[in-house]
Amino acid sequence: MRTTDLIIAFSLLSTAKGVVTDAAASPHSFKLDLHVPNPIPNTNTFLRSSKPPAANKWAVLNATLGGRLQVSQPFARPCFQASDTVGAFNQGTCGAVQAGYLNHTVRVQAFGSFMNTEWEGCQATSEQCTLDWQNPVNPAAFSPPSTCSQGSIAEVFLEVKNAADVQTAFKFSKQSGVPLSIKNTGHDYSGRSSQIGSLGLWTHNLNSISFSEKFVPKGCPASKALPGVTQGAGVVHGDIVNFADAHGLTMPAGADNTVGAVGGFLMGGGHTPVSNIYGLGVDRVLEFEVVTPTGKHLFANDCQNTDLFFALRGGGGATFGVVLAVTMRAFPKTSFTTVGVTFNNAPAVLSPFLDLLIGHSVQWATDGWSGVIVLGGGMFLTNTKMNQAAAAKYMAPLQNAVEKQLNGTFTLVTLPSYLALHQNFITSQAVPVGIPLLTSSRLIPANTFKSSPTQLRDALLNITANSVETILFADTPFSFKPFAGTGPTSVTPAWRNSIWHVTSGNGWLFNTPTAGKQAVYTGVTELMQLLRDLTPSSGAYHNEADVHEPNFSSSFWGNNYARLLSIKRKYDPDHLLDCWRCVNWRGASNANFRCYL
Ligand SMILES: Cc1cc2nc3c(=O)[nH]c(=O)nc-3n(C[C@H](O)[C@H](O)[C@H](O)COP(=O)(O)OP(=O)(O)OC[C@H]3O[C@@H](n4cnc5c(N)ncnc54)[C@H](O)[C@@H]3O)c2cc1C
Ligand SMILES: *[C@@H]1O[C@H](CO)[C@@H](O)[C@H](O)[C@H]1NC(C)=O
Ligand SMILES: *[C@@H]1O[C@H](CO)[C@@H](O)[C@H](O)[C@H]1NC(C)=O
Ligand SMILES: *[C@@H]1O[C@H](CO)[C@@H](O)[C@H](O)[C@H]1NC(C)=O
Ligand SMILES: *[C@@H]1O[C@H](CO)[C@@H](O)[C@H](O)[C@H]1NC(C)=O
Ligand SMILES: *[C@@H]1O[C@H](CO)[C@@H](O)[C@H](O)[C@H]1NC(C)=O
Repeated sequence: MRTTDLIIAFSLLSTAKGVVTDAAASPHSFKLDLHVPNPIPNTNTFLRSSKPPAANKWAVLNATLGGRLQVSQPFARPCFQASDTVGAFNQGTCGAVQAGYLNHTVRVQAFGSFMNTEWEGCQATSEQCTLDWQNPVNPAAFSPPSTCSQGSIAEVFLEVKNAADVQTAFKFSKQSGVPLSIKNTGHDYSGRSSQIGSLGLWTHNLNSISFSEKFVPKGCPASKALPGVTQGAGVVHGDIVNFADAHGLTMPAGADNTVGAVGGFLMGGGHTPVSNIYGLGVDRVLEFEVVTPTGKHLFANDCQNTDLFFALRGGGGATFGVVLAVTMRAFPKTSFTTVGVTFNNAPAVLSPFLDLLIGHSVQWATDGWSGVIVLGGGMFLTNTKMNQAAAAKYMAPLQNAVEKQLNGTFTLVTLPSYLALHQNFITSQAVPVGIPLLTSSRLIPANTFKSSPTQLRDALLNITANSVETILFADTPFSFKPFAGTGPTSVTPAWRNSIWHVTSGNGWLFNTPTAGKQAVYTGVTELMQLLRDLTPSSGAYHNEADVHEPNFSSSFWGNNYARLLSIKRKYDPDHLLDCWRCVNWRGASNANFRCYL
């Protein structure tokens, strides 16, 4: 299959997505509904057999853990009659899998499920256990001769309860050479939470949340006390937004309720629709509780283990240790003055809309607006400093252009809380899951808006036309001032002089052969090159970046990389943690990465 065919197949999907609708229940709702088109007939399966896991190598560890080691099976296993992995065919369970195939709430509960399903399979061999995402009941995906394979899913896993569990796992890995993987929610776009042949550590049960009016990080003087919310490593965004609201607090959260609030999201940076106001997730951390690969159970904050604190604030998940909990700064409940824009025919007005956005966005960011723009859809921007009357005056030029020139609808509302903003403008499931989706990212510096507005528009038009979904996250911490007394973070400094974090991506069908997948990867990398060329000294957000991002260490971390590398060597001298393009990774030729394309 050629790349153009894949793009066409996906554009069936994108015409129905990226659409901002006025849903009856939430009038300003910002929803991207996943439309499932008719199945494309194809009986090819491209499956090869693999060996079942050898049971005995886990026996001693299992006994040490009191029999808590679990055998893992792929999410869609019950749908397959032919299989070379554990588990059994089960019609009833298969029905539930099919019904929940594209549902993040269902997927997040299963260890053997990954949101971007390319990470369930072994892409290099096309051994997989996936359904047809366009039509999960299509028997071509799961009837013989289609075979369910373990793919890159960890063979066995442990639901982590405490520090001792993690210490046991590190000791086991050091003695046996068995690699470890850490899975929280399975949202990672670079497959860093699944790894073939590994022992999986699943953190999702660490889901306690508590609030302290006067949280003092360990080793800090009492004068450092601040309101803080302590969250277990498995807490997800939906939980934290509700908890905060019930306690009269504001705790910003990512766009998807099932993304982890603490895991890879946070350690990689963590942007939310309001991060121009509250900073990135890493800007709001007061303390991490972590078990390092050397087996130490540590608390890292601005007063102790400050090197580790720096590294965990942007250096990425699965690199410096297993985080058990984090305490984040809590803010008082506040209202959000919010502008929403929708269009009657969004694709038709894309070019003038982009001109408008490029002309105004630096000023908007400077004046504290933060939000999300879906190209070919609509946008929202919010502000906590301007009241409704001031915002109406300020945004009059936007309102004018939208209503008079762009045939769109402009709304301005004051929402009483972050929960209300989250429910009304931030979709419950903004980005589709259950699909093999490749993404790519670029941070667009303020100076590009001034020096090359036309080139920026044309590159974005090109990218939008050739990818499944292009989002301009207008939520970089451009005007956010880091809190006094907090040390530096390790995300790329490009975040802080950028106005947009642009993401785009593409995907493939359930039966796309390996060569076709390869072509999609190449296409995604080439398409984002348009923005890389325009912003040569900038970078990308590694949590939403191209799997094959060129020059990745400087792109993800800028001049912080050298320090991250030395901290990695200090806390993980035996190299027990490794993941794709993580700090000090062993490289693509290492056998642990044999499933990558
Ligand atoms: C639908 C969707 C929406 C998204 N929305 C946003 C968004 O609004 N803002 C944003 O910034 N990003 C967003 N992302 C990207 C997100 O940041 C990444 O997917 C991130 O990897 C998710 O972290 P996780 O812990 O939930 O997922 P996982 O895939 O479980 O883990 C991600 C990485 O962190 C490691 N890890 C997880 N837990 C721990 C732990 N306790 N200790 C050590 N390492 C750990 C894993 O090993 C893996 O390397 C989104 C992604 C998707 C698919
Ligand atoms: C661990 O032991 C328990 C109890 O005997 C068993 O149910 C489980 O399947 C074992 N796990 C593995 C990975 O063998
Ligand atoms: C997803 O699954 C959850 C849990 O079963 C359910 O409550 C929700 O309605 C489902 N969402 C959709 C869009 O079907
Ligand atoms: C605005 O969009 C509506 C719906 O598509 C269409 O009927 C109408 O003609 C458009 N108006 C203009 C001025 O383009
Ligand atoms: C998009 O960019 C590519 C690569 O530069 C170029 O070949 C192509 O012509 C462009 N397409 C459009 C529609 O501008
Ligand atoms: C990688 O990026 C850095 C910083 O932008 C740049 O100095 C360096 O030349 C780049 N290296 C390559 C091989 O592109």
